[in-house]
Amino acid sequence: MTNKKPRTTLQIQQMKKDGQPITMLTAYDATFARLIDDAGVDMILVGDSLGMVIQGLDNTIPVTLDEMIYHAKAVSRGARTAHIVCDMPFMTYQGDKFEALKNAGRILKESGAQSVKLEGGRAITDTVAQLVNSGIPVMGHLGLTPQAVHAMGGFKVQGKNPQAAQEIVDDALALERAGAFALVLEGIPAELARVITQSLNIPTIGIGAGVDCDGQVLVIYDVLGMNPDFQPKFVKKYLNLGELIPEAVRNFRQEVHAREFPTPAHSFHAKEPLFTPHGVETPEEDDDVIGLYGVPVELG
Ligand code: KIV
Repeated sequence: MTNKKPRTTLQIQQMKKDGQPITMLTAYDATFARLIDDAGVDMILVGDSLGMVIQGLDNTIPVTLDEMIYHAKAVSRGARTAHIVCDMPFMTYQGDKFEALKNAGRILKESGAQSVKLEGGRAITDTVAQLVNSGIPVMGHLGLTPQAVHAMGGFKVQGKNPQAAQEIVDDALALERAGAFALVLEGIPAELARVITQSLNIPTIGIGAGVDCDGQVLVIYDVLGMNPDFQPKFVKKYLNLGELIPEAVRNFRQEVHAREFPTPAHSFHAKEPLFTPHGVETPEEDDDVIGLYGVPVELG
């Protein structure tokens, strides 16, 4: 038993009914998951955007199921109350629906995530229904669907003409009928996102889809401004770590070169002489307890 109490899909859906905006951020490791969870964010998405921000790829297509499970496991260890959604990567659900069920089942069983996210509309509603009927909550994802980057001819805003907009509305309604508990709407006109949000009972979570969605999601590395060269219109940088991190690193480097770090305060000191004229004595076990790699050790 753990002290974890993740938000449920029902609680997320109730937020729409109560008119309470839903927050979601991506995380890919336990440290970020803990910080995001502590700040009270409702949902954490283990996004396949990790292909870009963690793995340095140009798109999400090469990301594997094992990689998603690896990161989602770490996120689950860090989060306590946020609902954890894990992306199903490209080609783990677009084919046979029982293969998709097996893959989604692995995500829930092995990672500790509480739901999965799939990109696509009417083409995958049979699969969505199969997963939901087997007890796996599904979040849909419409509009700019990054796994379809080659089919879309790049990362482009979708639904910009009446026909394309109607297709996305129809996909959204079909996903709701298939049992999806919520939908991400990415890279579509705000006017279209508003109509979809008003037409559905399930919550919409927007990214580049305007203010009228039921909630908003961003990639945590974008929120923190980790990449100074990346400033798409839909991102707001709440911090500029892309400048602050190199500044901290330069300070560390300069202090090491100047022998200003570590100071005596950062060093361990023996309580009695360690050396005799005859050689080295074995020191008694040091009773100082230290934390390692950012993990404090609690003294009993
Ligand atoms: O992979 C991801 O991070 C996502 C969000 C951008 C919605 O799908």
